Amino acid sequence: MLVVDHVTKKYGTSSWFHRNKPAKSALSDVSFTVEPGTCMGILGESGAGKSTLGKIILGLLPPDSGSVRFEGVDLYRSDRHTRKKIRRNLQVVFQDCYSAVNPRMTVRQIIAEPLRNFERLSAQQERSIIVELLETVGLAAEHLDKNPRQMSGGQLQRVNIARAIALNPKLIVLDEPLSSLDMIVQKQILQHLNELKDSKGLSYLFISHDVMAVNNLSDRVAVLDKGMIVESMEANAMFECSHPSSQRIIHAIHEANRLGP
Ligand SMILES: Nc1ncnc2c1ncn2[C@@H]1O[C@H](COP(=O)(O)OP(=O)(O)OP(=O)(O)O)[C@@H](O)[C@H]1O
Ligand SMILES: [Mg+2]
Repeated sequence: MLVVDHVTKKYGTSSWFHRNKPAKSALSDVSFTVEPGTCMGILGESGAGKSTLGKIILGLLPPDSGSVRFEGVDLYRSDRHTRKKIRRNLQVVFQDCYSAVNPRMTVRQIIAEPLRNFERLSAQQERSIIVELLETVGLAAEHLDKNPRQMSGGQLQRVNIARAIALNPKLIVLDEPLSSLDMIVQKQILQHLNELKDSKGLSYLFISHDVMAVNNLSDRVAVLDKGMIVESMEANAMFECSHPSSQRIIHAIHEANRLGP
């Protein structure tokens, strides 16, 4: 369904002061595929290029070379109409739930936004869809008219997930969606994500530096090190990985998770 093919990305140095510095390679020759209804975990240390990869897959950042194909269509070589159709099927949930939303909007408005962009619904239809979406992520209708500041991080992240699934997308990029939440809330949200994957046949690209969370949600895992995929494997074979870099990364990340922040 998603084919990432030999993607390379360098960030240039735009300032005059740094003009002689060589452009920094954020991704080098990254290739992998995501099958329908499966989750691909992307593990890597800070600065490995995970978010850059997420943005490229969402159509937000053109790669320098290589391609991203979604259901056979090249994201960066298609016309506007096709891109809009693809965009509907590609959604995202970011780590920082508060900055992902407009603080002046209510929960109802936040979830209604994608629906209003793509659907023509009556006020009543819209409300019942929003309530249903909230229930899917374990929230009740009583939250409809609250604004982000009146929600906990875990509740607001659920609202972000409800917004991401509002248009029945096929793929959701989850860029460290659990990192700012406590362990109990992380577990509950992982369970909702797992249920959604099974009930809706959703696919995920799950970017994380939490080995156990990746293990819980993913079918396959790719280890990204300094912009390169050093190894990819079945999620349940993660601890038997063979490449020295992935062993080092997986164990370093696992140790850091165990010790806590
Ligand atoms: N807009 C940008 N301009 C210049 N360099 C950037 C930009 N965004 C990211 N980089 C650099 O590209 C590399 C990869 O960054 P990226 O944000 O993709 O890493 P990451 O794996 O998501 O890290 P983290 O786990 O900290 O979120 C880093 O060295 C970073 O400094
Ligand atoms: Mg990142």
